[in-house]
Amino acid sequence: MTVKEIFQTMDYGPAPESAAEALTWLVDQGGRFGHFIDGQFTKPASGFDSRNPATGEVLASLSQASQSDVDSAVSAARKAQPKWEKLGGPGRARYLYAIARLLQKHSRLFAVLETLDNGKPIRESRDIDIPLAQRHFYYHAGMAQLMHDALPDRTAIGVCGQIIPWNFPLLMLAWKIAPALAMGNTVVLKPAEYTSLTALLFADICRQAGLPAGVVNLVTGDGAVGEMIVNADVDKVAFTGSTAVGRRIREATAGTDKELTLELGGKSPYIVFDDADLDSAVEGLVDAIWFNQGQVCCAGSRLLVHEPVAERFYAKLRARMDKLRIGNPLDKSIDVGAIVDATQLKTITDMVAANSDGDMHQTAGDMPAQGCFYPPTLITGLDTAHPLMQEEIFGPVLVATTFRTPSEAVELANNTRYGLAATLWTENINLALDVAPKLAAGVVWTNATNLFDAAAGFGGVRESGFGREGGWEGLSAYTKPKDTGKTLPQIAPFEGNKGPAEGIDRTAKLYIGGKQTRPDGGYSAPVYAKNGTLLGHASQSNRKDLRNAVEAAQAAKGWGKSTGHLRAQILYYIAENLYARADEFEARLNALQGGKTAAQEVQDSIDTLFTAAAWADKYDGQAHGVPIRGVALAMKEPTGVIAALCPDAYPLLGLVSLMAPAIAMGNRVILGASQPFPLAATDFYQILDTSDVPGGVVNILTGPHDALADTMTRHMDIDAVWSFSDPALSETIRKGSASNLKRTWIGTSLPAMRDTLAAATEIKDIWIPYGE
Ligand code: NAI
Repeated sequence: MTVKEIFQTMDYGPAPESAAEALTWLVDQGGRFGHFIDGQFTKPASGFDSRNPATGEVLASLSQASQSDVDSAVSAARKAQPKWEKLGGPGRARYLYAIARLLQKHSRLFAVLETLDNGKPIRESRDIDIPLAQRHFYYHAGMAQLMHDALPDRTAIGVCGQIIPWNFPLLMLAWKIAPALAMGNTVVLKPAEYTSLTALLFADICRQAGLPAGVVNLVTGDGAVGEMIVNADVDKVAFTGSTAVGRRIREATAGTDKELTLELGGKSPYIVFDDADLDSAVEGLVDAIWFNQGQVCCAGSRLLVHEPVAERFYAKLRARMDKLRIGNPLDKSIDVGAIVDATQLKTITDMVAANSDGDMHQTAGDMPAQGCFYPPTLITGLDTAHPLMQEEIFGPVLVATTFRTPSEAVELANNTRYGLAATLWTENINLALDVAPKLAAGVVWTNATNLFDAAAGFGGVRESGFGREGGWEGLSAYTKPKDTGKTLPQIAPFEGNKGPAEGIDRTAKLYIGGKQTRPDGGYSAPVYAKNGTLLGHASQSNRKDLRNAVEAAQAAKGWGKSTGHLRAQILYYIAENLYARADEFEARLNALQGGKTAAQEVQDSIDTLFTAAAWADKYDGQAHGVPIRGVALAMKEPTGVIAALCPDAYPLLGLVSLMAPAIAMGNRVILGASQPFPLAATDFYQILDTSDVPGGVVNILTGPHDALADTMTRHMDIDAVWSFSDPALSETIRKGSASNLKRTWIGTSLPAMRDTLAAATEIKDIWIPYGE
């Protein structure tokens, strides 16, 4: 082509990045890899090939870990952990800085290797994946340095088993390893089978940084190896991947005390209002759904456009799609690279091919003749229940519909079982800040999309999983409280054969929707004092009572929107009313439990109410400084409807310790009163009645906890289940909660206020433009 012709066509010339260094590195390693265990690479064993999805060429041969490989990796991590933790934050920070610097030094090698292995455009691996991975290590080096001062009450969890997907291989590794190491944990990580090469290069970096043996261990292989890690002797499992596997891991760990965080799928809405800068919003979509070929858990894959501008917007979008360049991912001017593997390509192709609804537009540009490529695709005019509007496609396929009003936009946006991210485009700040809090999502971007940074938490609500990665909020997933408190005893109810103490046999009702109601089944059980005197009867609640309580709690949604000031006032009022009737409660607790702790328990309950009231308007969010022209507002939102089983012991304090912080944060609660001593809770109804607590905010049920636990975990309108009751219920609770991936919290000692406040809130990171 002559210079004149180039000027005439203004076509892109080829701008290929050389693969030579990366291929040489692979050859230098012998082209075959073992695992990285206890600071050494093991001998390569039989396994599988790692291929370049853009060409089909084999890049290296990887080993499939056996049970004994996983066991060795876990025991190396176990052995290394105490010393690593004792090294102290500043000591660990030095290693994390060293790793960050080495990642920076070798960044081009990492970027090219990532692109070869995953198929993503070099522009992305070079400018996004690798720099963000480095940033994660730098940031968390700082967290290690600050741990002692900033988190004096927290300590490492121990050995973390980490399983990551193939869409951001090195970045997901960094998200998992950096905070874990910073907080004094050691890790066994499994990269995804399609994309293990940058993890293996990272192992080499750990050696170069002089990281003590056993602190980082890597095993390669498929889902079977992932299962081995989940079932191994690890203290925590951290998983990113599909919702189906996340659910299986929730079930597999249900009978153990392993901590768990799950970062799962999404079908994130991308909302364009009629006053948006449409050209920017189109450009944003390129980053939302064609970034990484749409293989992004938080991809803006569901476009919702304001009706008045829809046709204009679609026209601009189709024009932009036709300009996207698809091809060799190593070419620096390529927009869309290869799909990670033929299996994933088939999934995408089949999902789209099965559909004949709506209008489909695919990029007009040339497609490579071979390799795993799929054209950028837009399907408009689908109704909201359509499978393509509901299911994660995990490819470069955008589905779209329109809305008429902002409230309809919110309704459509939230019409999904997921809740990972959302994007808003409008020039109206009032509208943006009105809509952002209403979206069911862990992350909201305004006038931008797919922004990530180590300082901002990332993670979802609903079936997008639980736990956050990044920022201060991400650290709680890699630490636990230092003080575990006194273990709560399990107490059998007293038996008796004497008549009622006061000559009147009373049956306490249930407390649902602000009213005392008879149990649906009509059954009750006697409650005896230690000396065998009958104190009264407590209602036996059944499934129907629980459902009524959930309905009442759902109807009290307004509580979550009330101000912290108002919630504080109501909690102060409860505290004062309890104070006024302290003697009565002391007498009741004495009668129920015997012993000499009643006065203290009443006093502690009053204090807990005052403290929760004090926190109601002070448990603030944060504004995270992120390295862009913006801030990420980490807003604390109520978890929703929390069902909690109170401990056997401390029949009043146990209930108050769970209820007060939960309602202070704007949640509605359904409490299962202490099983052996329910009457302190039923007396408490009167305190609630006289304290202006809106009906439905607090609901109290009495009766056997095992039946309640089972129903609570299966109910789809409950967002979290907490249990401080019999530890034997924990498996039922965790397993059942896998249905809609409820948050669960199993406690064995009286909960500390700070931990309860954290469990009662979800952090939503709202990214907004800010600054110069
Ligand atoms: P996947 O969830 O099966 O794989 C993710 C990781 O989990 C891999 O390392 C895999 O080896 C491991 N794994 C698989 N089964 C396991 C098990 N039973 N126990 C423990 N670990 C296990 O995802 P896959 O099959 O690669 O992709 C399927 C779909 O999942 C995609 O089409 C996409 O919709 C979704 N996905 C979502 C991701 C996200 O970031 N949210 C990432 C990758 C996939």
